[in-house]
Amino acid sequence: MSKASEHIQSILPDFKPEVAIILGSGLGEFADLVENATKISYNDLEGFPSAGVAGHAGQLVCGNIGKTNVIVAQGRAHFYEHGDASVMDPVIEAFHTLGCHTLVVTNAAGGLNTDYEPGSVMIINDHINYAATSPLIGKEGNERFVGMVDAYDPAIRERLHNIAKQEEIDVSEGVYMWFTGPHFETPAEIRMAKMLGASAVGMSTVPEVILARFYGLKVAGLSNITNLGAGLSDEKLSHEHTMAMAGKGAQKIAAILKTYLSEGAL
Ligand code: HPA
Repeated sequence: MSKASEHIQSILPDFKPEVAIILGSGLGEFADLVENATKISYNDLEGFPSAGVAGHAGQLVCGNIGKTNVIVAQGRAHFYEHGDASVMDPVIEAFHTLGCHTLVVTNAAGGLNTDYEPGSVMIINDHINYAATSPLIGKEGNERFVGMVDAYDPAIRERLHNIAKQEEIDVSEGVYMWFTGPHFETPAEIRMAKMLGASAVGMSTVPEVILARFYGLKVAGLSNITNLGAGLSDEKLSHEHTMAMAGKGAQKIAAILKTYLSEGAL
């Protein structure tokens, strides 16, 4: 067991987490839904990255949302901060070691379908690893050859769709394409991404999903579409713009996940 997992267990010896949730830019407030919350700073967890981007707090919030015991990761580290796709490995490894069966990843993303408005929510059904690197580089043994078919669990996707329908929240489903960032894409890259079958582009998530599958966790992913991809509208893209536009979609994602977790996660 890693020192980070041991430390979490020493603080919360009876805590049996089931679902881990990584909050993307603008989604930090979701952590306020955690009941009986204990907060642990990444700084106190050996191997955990510091979350260096504005809008990412850098702490775990442990507790429950209704029937489900959760660990909410308020903040992630990105490939573009360190040039290392495995920067989130200690975090996902701890989720696995502590007993989580599912990882829910959320992110802010640029939409490629012109009918996506800022504030739309997309359930991720697959991804394209355009950064073409892997968080598993350097691992040994046959487990590193991880299958990525149905990486985004079909049963959880169906459940999330059903919840969205019940709550009259519009959601779409599509492919997330990972660009390293931290620069935004060019309009030509956005045209390429569309041609290759992506519905949204972003700078995170994919390494965490690969790691989660490596450790045997089920995965669900939700994109908060904060803007259309570069060149698809007149908006000027910036991190400030992403944060300013994140509220509407973040509320929808929070509502869907709250019901999913309150009722008891698959
Ligand atoms: N591109 C990449 N990442 C993003 C975007 C985008 O347009 N919007 C929010 N995160």
